Amino acid sequence: MVFSETILRWYAENGRDLPWRGTRDPYAVWLSEIILQQTRVAQGWAYWERFMDHFPTVEALAAASEDEVLRLWQGLGYYSRARNLHTAAKQIVSMGGFPSTLEGIRSLKGVGDYTAAAIGSLAFGLPAAVVDGNVYRVLARYFGIATPVPEAPAAFNQGMMDFGATCCTPVNPACLTCPLQPSCQAFRTGRTELLPVKQAAAKPVERHLTYVYVRFQGQTAIHRRGPGDIWQGLWEPWLTDEVPAGAQSVVKGFKHQLTHRTILADFYLWEPAERPDLPEGYVWIEEAELDAYAKPRLFELLLEKR
Ligand code: ADE
Ligand code: SF4
Repeated sequence: MVFSETILRWYAENGRDLPWRGTRDPYAVWLSEIILQQTRVAQGWAYWERFMDHFPTVEALAAASEDEVLRLWQGLGYYSRARNLHTAAKQIVSMGGFPSTLEGIRSLKGVGDYTAAAIGSLAFGLPAAVVDGNVYRVLARYFGIATPVPEAPAAFNQGMMDFGATCCTPVNPACLTCPLQPSCQAFRTGRTELLPVKQAAAKPVERHLTYVYVRFQGQTAIHRRGPGDIWQGLWEPWLTDEVPAGAQSVVKGFKHQLTHRTILADFYLWEPAERPDLPEGYVWIEEAELDAYAKPRLFELLLEKR
């Protein structure tokens, strides 16, 4: 049996039952692909449902405020995805509907070649092959290098993704029950653990942040993070290297892991007798209103320690 037939048969029997697979609605498919760009299916699932509930159509998403979108995204990380999603929703509405060609899909903010191929094949049946980490691993092991030409692009692409995620896994692949095993190069030559060749892992970067939570007459001061750094557009408390005298330490060296860096946060509570002057950009809000602001997960965790 040729490679793509094996994957299609495997997918029919073993494919994961994911909620966005019951639809060819390009909006639903696009949303799932943006969420899954840097998030595992197990975590992304609930967010997809949350977004579909809140914004059942691209028009609804386009009409929302950026804060609303960021708030719903809260906890997923890589917030540029949420901002791009919102921008692209407006693009789609102004185009008069979801584009149905690869070029059109690729022109949406936040959609690269991979995501365009995924949406094109899943929502419109366009013959575009998707190569993510899972797919690349399967190809690298089975063939060395080759590009199979799929006849059923939607099922083939999703079959490949699932096959890589659940059968041909990074460690301990299920070679003994794998339908590709009889002709798999990696298996034949005993190199499943050596392929694909990995890049040396980058050293994790540590970053220290000191926050002072100011409380004055039931209010606290927060500011919105600017562009060019993590958490763009999200709100956080006073970030400073100079902790005022009288501030009490709440947590020291609180460790928070992001994908490419480790944050070590110190968190202080300061209840001054007079309203202090803070640097430009800080706004005073009622503490009870904190919920309404989109915040990094770290800030939420720190708030629990308050
Ligand atoms: N990862 C990205 N897109 C996916 C999809 N459609 N199915 C499973 N995993 C995915
Ligand atoms: Fe992957 Fe093993 Fe199957 Fe080869 S035999 S495709 S390495 S699971």
